[in-house]
Amino acid sequence: MRIAVPAETDPGEARVAATPETVKKYIALGAEVVVQSHAGIQSGIPDADYAGAGAAIADDARRTIADADIILRVRRPHAAELAEAKPSAAVFAIADPYGQIEALKTVAETGVLLFAMELMPRITRAQVMDVLSSQANLAGYRCVIDAAAEFGRAMPMMMTAAGTVPAAKIFIMGVGVAGLQAIATARRLGAIVTATDVRPATKEQVVSLGAKFIAVEDEEFKQAETAGGYAKEMSAAYQEKQRALVASHIAKQDIVITTALIPGRPAPLLITEDMVDSMRPGSVIMDLAVERGGNCALSKPGEIVTTAKGVKVVGLLNIPGRLAATASALYARNLSAFVETLVDKTNKAMAINWDDEIVKATLLTKDGLLVHPNFQIAA
Ligand code: NAI
Repeated sequence: MRIAVPAETDPGEARVAATPETVKKYIALGAEVVVQSHAGIQSGIPDADYAGAGAAIADDARRTIADADIILRVRRPHAAELAEAKPSAAVFAIADPYGQIEALKTVAETGVLLFAMELMPRITRAQVMDVLSSQANLAGYRCVIDAAAEFGRAMPMMMTAAGTVPAAKIFIMGVGVAGLQAIATARRLGAIVTATDVRPATKEQVVSLGAKFIAVEDEEFKQAETAGGYAKEMSAAYQEKQRALVASHIAKQDIVITTALIPGRPAPLLITEDMVDSMRPGSVIMDLAVERGGNCALSKPGEIVTTAKGVKVVGLLNIPGRLAATASALYARNLSAFVETLVDKTNKAMAINWDDEIVKATLLTKDGLLVHPNFQIAA
Protein backbone atom coordinates (compact mmCIF):
# COMPACT_ATOMS: atom_id res chain seq x y z
CA MET A 1 0.00 0.00 0.00
CA ARG A 2 1.47 3.27 -1.12
CA ILE A 3 0.42 6.67 0.21
CA ALA A 4 1.30 9.83 -1.71
CA VAL A 5 1.46 13.37 -0.38
CA PRO A 6 1.78 15.74 -3.36
CA ALA A 7 2.45 19.45 -2.85
CA GLU A 8 -0.61 21.70 -3.03
CA THR A 9 -0.94 23.45 -6.37
CA ASP A 10 -3.17 26.40 -5.40
CA PRO A 11 -0.83 29.34 -4.77
CA GLY A 12 -3.01 30.43 -1.82
CA GLU A 13 -2.65 27.11 -0.02
CA ALA A 14 0.12 26.87 2.57
CA ARG A 15 -1.15 23.75 4.32
CA VAL A 16 -0.03 20.18 3.69
CA ALA A 17 -1.97 16.94 4.11
CA ALA A 18 0.57 14.94 6.14
CA THR A 19 3.11 15.66 8.86
CA PRO A 20 6.05 13.56 10.07
CA GLU A 21 3.76 12.40 12.90
CA THR A 22 1.12 11.03 10.50
CA VAL A 23 3.76 9.63 8.14
CA LYS A 24 4.95 7.47 11.05
CA LYS A 25 1.37 6.31 11.66
CA TYR A 26 0.96 5.30 8.00
CA ILE A 27 4.22 3.41 8.05
CA ALA A 28 3.10 1.63 11.23
CA LEU A 29 -0.02 0.58 9.27
CA GLY A 30 2.28 -1.08 6.74
CA ALA A 31 2.25 1.65 4.08
CA GLU A 32 5.07 3.14 2.05
CA VAL A 33 4.80 6.95 2.05
CA VAL A 34 6.03 9.26 -0.71
CA VAL A 35 6.08 13.02 -0.11
CA GLN A 36 6.71 15.55 -2.87
CA SER A 37 9.77 17.66 -2.25
CA HIS A 38 8.88 20.99 -0.56
CA ALA A 39 5.27 19.92 0.09
CA GLY A 40 5.55 20.91 3.75
CA ILE A 41 7.79 23.91 3.49
CA GLN A 42 5.09 26.54 4.07
CA SER A 43 3.94 24.61 7.13
CA GLY A 44 7.47 24.65 8.52
CA ILE A 45 8.19 21.02 7.64
CA PRO A 46 11.37 20.45 5.60
CA ASP A 47 11.82 17.34 3.44
CA ALA A 48 14.38 16.04 5.93
CA ASP A 49 11.71 15.78 8.64
CA TYR A 50 9.50 13.65 6.39
CA ALA A 51 12.48 11.53 5.41
CA GLY A 52 13.38 11.18 9.10
CA ALA A 53 9.87 9.84 9.72
CA GLY A 54 10.44 7.21 7.03
CA ALA A 55 8.94 8.82 3.89
CA ALA A 56 10.56 8.74 0.47
CA ILE A 57 10.88 12.17 -1.14
CA ALA A 58 9.92 12.53 -4.82
CA ASP A 59 11.00 15.42 -7.04
CA ASP A 60 7.70 16.11 -8.72
CA ALA A 61 3.99 15.43 -8.49
CA ARG A 62 4.04 12.75 -11.20
CA ARG A 63 6.62 10.65 -9.37
CA THR A 64 4.87 11.28 -6.06
CA ILE A 65 1.52 9.87 -7.12
CA ALA A 66 2.82 7.10 -9.40
CA ASP A 67 1.38 3.78 -8.20
CA ALA A 68 -0.20 5.38 -5.13
CA ASP A 69 -3.23 3.66 -3.61
CA ILE A 70 -3.99 6.70 -1.48
CA ILE A 71 -3.41 10.36 -2.38
CA LEU A 72 -3.65 12.90 0.43
CA ARG A 73 -4.37 16.52 -0.44
CA VAL A 74 -5.63 19.62 1.31
CA ARG A 75 -7.59 20.87 -1.73
CA ARG A 76 -9.28 18.80 -4.40
CA PRO A 77 -6.83 18.16 -7.25
CA HIS A 78 -7.85 19.09 -10.79
CA ALA A 79 -8.57 16.12 -13.01
CA ALA A 80 -5.40 16.86 -15.01
CA GLU A 81 -3.32 16.38 -11.87
CA LEU A 82 -4.76 12.87 -11.54
CA ALA A 83 -4.14 11.86 -15.15
CA GLU A 84 -1.34 9.54 -14.11
CA ALA A 85 -2.89 8.34 -10.87
CA LYS A 86 -3.94 4.71 -10.56
CA PRO A 87 -7.60 4.64 -11.67
CA SER A 88 -8.60 3.00 -8.38
CA ALA A 89 -6.60 5.38 -6.15
CA ALA A 90 -8.43 6.91 -3.18
CA VAL A 91 -8.01 10.68 -3.05
CA PHE A 92 -8.77 12.57 0.17
CA ALA A 93 -9.22 16.34 0.21
CA ILE A 94 -11.34 19.25 1.33
CA ALA A 95 -13.25 18.89 -1.93
CA ASP A 96 -15.41 22.04 -1.95
CA PRO A 97 -18.12 20.13 -3.84
CA TYR A 98 -21.09 22.53 -3.84
CA GLY A 99 -21.60 24.23 -7.19
CA GLN A 100 -18.69 22.27 -8.67
CA ILE A 101 -20.54 19.49 -10.47
CA GLU A 102 -18.62 19.78 -13.74
CA ALA A 103 -15.22 19.75 -12.04
CA LEU A 104 -16.28 16.76 -9.93
CA LYS A 105 -17.43 14.88 -13.02
CA THR A 106 -14.04 15.36 -14.66
CA VAL A 107 -12.36 14.02 -11.52
CA ALA A 108 -14.81 11.08 -11.56
CA GLU A 109 -13.78 10.30 -15.14
CA THR A 110 -10.21 9.65 -14.02
CA GLY A 111 -11.61 6.66 -12.14
CA VAL A 112 -10.36 7.69 -8.69
CA LEU A 113 -12.36 7.45 -5.48
CA LEU A 114 -12.66 11.03 -4.24
CA PHE A 115 -13.52 11.53 -0.56
CA ALA A 116 -14.70 14.98 0.60
CA MET A 117 -13.44 15.43 4.14
CA GLU A 118 -15.86 18.27 4.86
CA LEU A 119 -18.83 15.93 4.38
CA MET A 120 -17.76 13.86 7.38
CA PRO A 121 -20.88 13.27 9.49
CA ARG A 122 -20.83 14.89 12.92
CA ILE A 123 -21.16 11.66 14.86
CA THR A 124 -19.11 10.79 17.92
CA ARG A 125 -16.94 8.23 16.13
CA ALA A 126 -15.98 10.72 13.42
CA GLN A 127 -15.16 13.71 15.66
CA VAL A 128 -11.46 13.00 15.29
CA MET A 129 -11.90 13.22 11.48
CA ASP A 130 -13.94 16.45 11.52
CA VAL A 131 -11.99 18.86 9.34
CA LEU A 132 -14.69 21.52 9.46
CA SER A 133 -14.22 21.73 13.21
CA SER A 134 -10.44 21.50 13.26
CA GLN A 135 -10.03 24.23 10.65
CA ALA A 136 -12.93 26.46 11.73
CA ASN A 137 -11.61 26.54 15.29
CA LEU A 138 -8.28 27.88 14.05
CA ALA A 139 -10.01 30.33 11.71
CA GLY A 140 -12.02 31.65 14.66
CA TYR A 141 -8.85 32.27 16.63
CA ARG A 142 -6.83 33.74 13.79
CA CYS A 143 -9.54 36.11 12.55
CA VAL A 144 -9.55 37.90 15.91
CA ILE A 145 -5.77 38.27 15.74
CA ASP A 146 -6.05 39.60 12.17
CA ALA A 147 -8.89 41.95 13.12
CA ALA A 148 -6.86 43.25 16.07
CA ALA A 149 -3.94 43.89 13.72
CA GLU A 150 -6.14 45.91 11.34
CA PHE A 151 -7.71 47.89 14.20
CA GLY A 152 -5.83 51.07 15.03
CA ARG A 153 -6.69 50.94 18.74
CA ALA A 154 -6.02 48.65 21.68
CA MET A 155 -8.23 45.69 22.60
CA PRO A 156 -8.12 45.66 26.42
CA MET A 157 -9.00 48.49 28.73
CA MET A 158 -5.79 50.07 30.01
CA MET A 159 -5.45 52.53 32.86
CA THR A 160 -2.24 54.43 32.28
CA ALA A 161 -0.63 57.56 33.65
CA ALA A 162 -1.59 59.28 30.40
CA GLY A 163 -5.24 58.31 30.78
CA THR A 164 -7.61 55.39 30.36
CA VAL A 165 -7.89 53.45 27.10
CA PRO A 166 -11.35 51.92 26.65
CA ALA A 167 -11.78 48.22 25.85
CA ALA A 168 -12.71 47.45 22.24
CA LYS A 169 -16.27 46.24 21.55
CA ILE A 170 -16.39 43.11 19.39
CA PHE A 171 -19.55 41.57 17.95
CA ILE A 172 -19.43 38.00 16.64
CA MET A 173 -22.18 37.00 14.18
CA GLY A 174 -22.59 33.23 13.84
CA VAL A 175 -21.58 31.14 16.82
CA GLY A 176 -20.57 27.77 15.39
CA VAL A 177 -17.12 26.35 15.93
CA ALA A 178 -15.33 29.42 14.50
CA GLY A 179 -17.56 31.91 16.31
CA LEU A 180 -17.09 30.24 19.69
CA GLN A 181 -13.31 30.31 19.33
CA ALA A 182 -13.51 33.94 18.18
CA ILE A 183 -15.48 34.83 21.33
CA ALA A 184 -12.95 33.05 23.55
CA THR A 185 -10.00 34.71 21.79
CA ALA A 186 -11.54 38.20 21.88
CA ARG A 187 -12.29 37.77 25.59
CA ARG A 188 -8.68 36.73 26.25
CA LEU A 189 -7.52 39.91 24.54
CA GLY A 190 -9.72 41.91 26.90
CA ALA A 191 -12.47 43.04 24.50
CA ILE A 192 -16.12 43.49 25.45
CA VAL A 193 -17.78 40.73 23.43
CA THR A 194 -21.35 40.26 22.20
CA ALA A 195 -22.55 37.57 19.81
CA THR A 196 -25.58 36.44 17.83
CA ASP A 197 -26.79 33.31 16.09
CA VAL A 198 -30.09 31.97 14.78
CA ARG A 199 -29.72 28.70 16.71
CA PRO A 200 -31.16 29.06 20.24
CA ALA A 201 -28.68 26.54 21.68
CA THR A 202 -25.88 29.03 21.14
CA LYS A 203 -27.22 31.49 23.74
CA GLU A 204 -26.01 29.38 26.65
CA GLN A 205 -22.64 28.78 24.96
CA VAL A 206 -22.15 32.51 24.37
CA VAL A 207 -22.99 33.35 27.98
CA SER A 208 -20.75 30.57 29.31
CA LEU A 209 -17.81 32.19 27.48
CA GLY A 210 -18.49 35.49 29.23
CA ALA A 211 -20.10 37.26 26.26
CA LYS A 212 -23.58 38.76 25.89
CA PHE A 213 -26.14 37.21 23.52
CA ILE A 214 -27.98 39.53 21.11
CA ALA A 215 -30.98 38.16 19.13
CA VAL A 216 -34.70 38.45 18.51
CA GLU A 217 -35.86 35.50 20.62
CA ASP A 218 -39.33 34.79 19.15
CA GLU A 219 -41.11 31.46 18.37
CA GLU A 220 -39.32 31.02 15.02
CA PHE A 221 -35.96 31.49 16.73
CA LYS A 222 -36.84 28.74 19.22
CA GLN A 223 -37.33 26.25 16.31
CA ALA A 224 -34.38 27.39 14.23
CA GLU A 225 -32.09 24.40 14.41
CA THR A 226 -32.12 21.29 12.20
CA ALA A 227 -31.87 17.82 13.73
CA GLY A 228 -28.25 17.80 12.55
CA GLY A 229 -27.48 20.90 14.63
CA TYR A 230 -27.15 23.31 11.71
CA ALA A 231 -28.88 26.61 11.06
CA LYS A 232 -32.06 26.80 8.98
CA GLU A 233 -32.67 29.59 6.52
CA MET A 234 -34.88 32.06 8.46
CA SER A 235 -38.12 33.66 7.19
CA ALA A 236 -38.03 37.12 5.63
CA ALA A 237 -40.04 38.48 8.60
CA TYR A 238 -37.55 37.14 11.16
CA GLN A 239 -34.61 38.39 9.16
CA GLU A 240 -36.15 41.88 9.11
CA LYS A 241 -36.62 42.00 12.90
CA GLN A 242 -33.15 40.64 13.49
CA ARG A 243 -31.71 43.14 10.99
CA ALA A 244 -33.21 46.08 12.90
CA LEU A 245 -31.80 44.85 16.22
CA VAL A 246 -28.41 44.09 14.74
CA ALA A 247 -28.26 47.42 12.86
CA SER A 248 -28.51 49.47 16.05
CA HIS A 249 -25.97 47.20 17.78
CA ILE A 250 -23.40 47.26 14.97
CA ALA A 251 -23.32 51.07 14.97
CA LYS A 252 -21.77 50.90 18.46
CA GLN A 253 -19.13 48.23 17.71
CA ASP A 254 -15.41 48.58 16.97
CA ILE A 255 -14.97 45.18 15.35
CA VAL A 256 -17.57 42.85 13.82
CA ILE A 257 -16.62 39.29 12.93
CA THR A 258 -19.05 37.30 10.79
CA THR A 259 -18.92 33.51 10.49
CA ALA A 260 -22.52 32.67 9.48
CA LEU A 261 -22.91 29.74 7.10
CA ILE A 262 -25.72 27.44 6.00
CA PRO A 263 -24.40 24.14 4.63
CA GLY A 264 -24.75 23.84 0.84
CA ARG A 265 -26.21 27.34 0.42
CA PRO A 266 -24.76 30.80 -0.10
CA ALA A 267 -23.83 32.56 3.15
CA PRO A 268 -26.64 34.78 4.53
CA LEU A 269 -26.18 38.52 4.03
CA LEU A 270 -26.10 40.00 7.55
CA ILE A 271 -24.38 43.37 7.19
CA THR A 272 -25.74 45.85 4.66
CA GLU A 273 -23.88 48.81 3.25
CA ASP A 274 -25.90 51.13 5.55
CA MET A 275 -24.77 49.14 8.57
CA VAL A 276 -21.15 49.45 7.47
CA ASP A 277 -21.65 53.20 7.08
CA SER A 278 -23.10 53.46 10.58
CA MET A 279 -19.79 52.36 12.14
CA ARG A 280 -17.12 54.76 13.35
CA PRO A 281 -14.03 55.43 11.19
CA GLY A 282 -11.32 52.92 12.03
CA SER A 283 -13.81 50.13 12.77
CA VAL A 284 -13.13 46.70 11.28
CA ILE A 285 -15.46 44.09 9.78
CA MET A 286 -13.91 40.65 9.28
CA ASP A 287 -16.01 38.44 6.97
CA LEU A 288 -15.09 34.79 7.43
CA ALA A 289 -17.89 33.74 5.06
CA VAL A 290 -16.38 35.69 2.14
CA GLU A 291 -15.47 32.49 0.26
CA ARG A 292 -19.14 31.43 0.30
CA GLY A 293 -20.57 34.73 -0.93
CA GLY A 294 -19.96 36.75 2.23
CA ASN A 295 -22.02 37.94 5.22
CA CYS A 296 -21.22 41.59 4.48
CA ALA A 297 -22.41 43.42 1.36
CA LEU A 298 -19.04 45.14 0.89
CA SER A 299 -16.61 42.31 1.46
CA LYS A 300 -14.47 41.19 -1.46
CA PRO A 301 -12.63 37.85 -1.53
CA GLY A 302 -8.95 38.33 -0.74
CA GLU A 303 -9.21 42.10 -0.26
CA ILE A 304 -9.35 44.71 2.47
CA VAL A 305 -11.87 47.32 1.37
CA THR A 306 -11.68 50.69 3.17
CA THR A 307 -14.92 52.65 2.79
CA ALA A 308 -15.11 56.41 2.23
CA LYS A 309 -15.99 56.73 5.93
CA GLY A 310 -12.87 54.78 6.94
CA VAL A 311 -14.35 51.40 7.90
CA LYS A 312 -12.18 48.44 6.91
CA VAL A 313 -13.99 45.40 5.49
CA VAL A 314 -11.59 42.48 5.55
CA GLY A 315 -12.16 39.52 3.22
CA LEU A 316 -9.11 37.39 3.90
CA LEU A 317 -9.15 34.01 2.18
CA ASN A 318 -8.16 30.67 3.68
CA ILE A 319 -7.74 31.89 7.24
CA PRO A 320 -6.74 28.43 8.57
CA GLY A 321 -3.91 28.56 6.00
CA ARG A 322 -2.58 31.66 7.80
CA LEU A 323 -1.72 29.31 10.68
CA ALA A 324 -0.45 26.70 8.27
CA ALA A 325 1.73 24.72 10.68
CA THR A 326 -1.05 24.25 13.23
CA ALA A 327 -3.76 23.80 10.61
CA SER A 328 -1.70 21.15 8.79
CA ALA A 329 -0.99 19.28 12.02
CA LEU A 330 -4.71 19.02 12.83
CA TYR A 331 -5.83 18.33 9.26
CA ALA A 332 -3.20 15.62 8.88
CA ARG A 333 -4.51 13.95 12.06
CA ASN A 334 -8.10 14.18 10.79
CA LEU A 335 -6.98 12.43 7.60
CA SER A 336 -4.93 9.72 9.26
CA ALA A 337 -7.82 8.88 11.62
CA PHE A 338 -10.07 8.36 8.57
CA VAL A 339 -7.51 6.46 6.46
CA GLU A 340 -6.86 4.11 9.38
CA THR A 341 -10.51 2.98 9.27
CA LEU A 342 -10.11 2.05 5.58
CA VAL A 343 -7.11 -0.23 6.02
CA ASP A 344 -7.13 -3.91 6.87
CA LYS A 345 -4.43 -4.14 9.51
CA THR A 346 -3.77 -7.84 8.94
CA ASN A 347 -3.31 -7.68 5.17
CA LYS A 348 -1.88 -4.13 5.33
CA ALA A 349 -4.08 -3.19 2.37
CA MET A 350 -7.05 -0.94 1.64
CA ALA A 351 -10.32 -2.57 2.66
CA ILE A 352 -13.16 -0.07 2.27
CA ASN A 353 -16.48 -0.98 3.86
CA TRP A 354 -18.89 0.65 1.39
CA ASP A 355 -21.73 0.36 3.92
CA ASP A 356 -19.92 2.35 6.60
CA GLU A 357 -21.81 5.62 7.15
CA ILE A 358 -18.63 7.70 7.15
CA VAL A 359 -17.65 6.23 3.77
CA LYS A 360 -21.13 6.78 2.33
CA ALA A 361 -21.26 10.34 3.61
CA THR A 362 -17.89 11.41 2.18
CA LEU A 363 -17.46 9.41 -1.05
CA LEU A 364 -18.06 11.67 -4.05
CA THR A 365 -16.77 9.67 -7.02
CA LYS A 366 -16.44 5.96 -7.80
CA ASP A 367 -16.22 3.82 -10.95
CA GLY A 368 -16.10 6.91 -13.17
CA LEU A 369 -19.26 8.43 -11.70
CA LEU A 370 -20.29 11.15 -9.28
CA VAL A 371 -22.01 8.87 -6.75
CA HIS A 372 -22.82 11.09 -3.76
CA PRO A 373 -26.61 11.42 -3.24
CA ASN A 374 -26.41 15.19 -2.57
CA PHE A 375 -25.14 15.83 -6.09
CA GLN A 376 -27.44 13.56 -8.13
CA ILE A 377 -30.25 15.93 -9.14
CA ALA A 378 -27.96 18.70 -10.24
CA ALA A 379 -25.78 16.15 -12.05
P1 NAI B 1 -21.42 26.59 10.29
O1 NAI B 1 -19.99 26.86 9.94
O2 NAI B 1 -22.27 25.80 9.36
O3 NAI B 1 -22.14 27.98 10.58
C1 NAI B 1 -21.62 28.91 11.49
C2 NAI B 1 -22.72 29.48 12.36
O4 NAI B 1 -23.49 30.41 11.61
C3 NAI B 1 -23.69 28.46 12.91
O5 NAI B 1 -23.68 28.53 14.33
C4 NAI B 1 -25.03 28.91 12.33
O6 NAI B 1 -26.11 28.67 13.22
C5 NAI B 1 -24.78 30.39 12.14
N1 NAI B 1 -25.74 31.08 11.27
C6 NAI B 1 -26.30 30.66 10.10
N2 NAI B 1 -27.14 31.59 9.62
C7 NAI B 1 -27.10 32.66 10.47
C8 NAI B 1 -27.74 33.91 10.51
N3 NAI B 1 -28.61 34.29 9.56
N4 NAI B 1 -27.47 34.75 11.55
C9 NAI B 1 -26.61 34.38 12.52
N5 NAI B 1 -25.97 33.19 12.53
C10 NAI B 1 -26.22 32.33 11.52
O7 NAI B 1 -21.49 25.92 11.74
P2 NAI B 1 -20.48 24.92 12.42
O8 NAI B 1 -19.42 25.67 13.10
O9 NAI B 1 -20.08 23.90 11.44
O10 NAI B 1 -21.40 24.28 13.54
C11 NAI B 1 -22.69 23.78 13.20
C12 NAI B 1 -23.22 22.85 14.29
O11 NAI B 1 -22.48 21.65 14.35
C13 NAI B 1 -23.18 23.42 15.69
O12 NAI B 1 -24.37 22.99 16.32
C14 NAI B 1 -22.02 22.74 16.32
O13 NAI B 1 -22.11 22.69 17.72
C15 NAI B 1 -22.18 21.38 15.70
N6 NAI B 1 -20.95 20.60 15.75
C16 NAI B 1 -21.03 19.27 16.08
C17 NAI B 1 -19.90 18.50 16.12
C18 NAI B 1 -20.00 17.07 16.47
O14 NAI B 1 -21.00 16.62 16.96
N7 NAI B 1 -19.00 16.29 16.18
C19 NAI B 1 -18.59 19.06 15.83
C20 NAI B 1 -18.62 20.45 15.48
C21 NAI B 1 -19.76 21.17 15.44
